[in-house]
Amino acid sequence: MTAYQRPILLVHRDRELLIAASGARLLLALSEAQSRSGTAHLVLTGGSMGSAILAGAGASGLLGLVDWSRLHLWWGDERYLPAGHPDRNDTQNRAALLDTLPLDPTHVHAVAGPELSTSVHDSAQQYAGQLAAAATPGQSLPDFDILLLGVGPDAHVASLFPGHPSLSVTERAVMGISDSPKPPSERVTMTFPTLARATQTWFLVSGADKADAVKRSLAGAPTNQAPAGTPHGRQRTLWLVDAAAAGQVAAPA
Ligand code: 6PG
Repeated sequence: MTAYQRPILLVHRDRELLIAASGARLLLALSEAQSRSGTAHLVLTGGSMGSAILAGAGASGLLGLVDWSRLHLWWGDERYLPAGHPDRNDTQNRAALLDTLPLDPTHVHAVAGPELSTSVHDSAQQYAGQLAAAATPGQSLPDFDILLLGVGPDAHVASLFPGHPSLSVTERAVMGISDSPKPPSERVTMTFPTLARATQTWFLVSGADKADAVKRSLAGAPTNQAPAGTPHGRQRTLWLVDAAAAGQVAAPA
């Protein structure tokens, strides 16, 4: 890990402030990425925080900073359920903000559900194809500007769970999982090499029930026990947390 990649822990007084600050931070970072390279690629996530940050962005006075027609959206993982299902990450993200934005529908890269694929593995393969088609010239994947990740109380990240064989998959960009320990059992997830492709990786964590997972991930626990400790941004890794989630991390001296 380079000094650039060393995670920075940003503790916010409470969940509300975390959501508002992260939403505004996201808009600033996307507008910076667009100024630099025209188009920005953002990887979204599920869970309550994955949608809360979008709601925070929507409530921010900075919403107008981003050119939504020049934003590509991806998902780090998705539950293998039909489009529009309330438990899908993209459905929740749409309800939180996306449906109100003038996005280019061809830039919204949703994971295929059972109605558009023959199996969770076929869906994963289709997604890998979408990623390859949008790859940066000379690369096999797009360069993501910002990757958002939630963290489970068991320190899982995306749909990569402690002790699961998916943790050691490196030869595929995306994989289908049919035995997720957390329902639904069928999911599509980016693998670690793909989760390592972002310029900036942001973890969004709120609540005392996550404090142990935050502590173990930041303390360098083995990937097999704390998968969330593994993904790093190529330039920046931020842990955006509230005080409750930071409750077991020692304050800087
Ligand atoms: C899932 C969940 C899960 C979630 C984390 C963080 O796919 O089953 O969405 O991965 O993202 O548990 O959840 P919170 O954002 O609610 O803390």
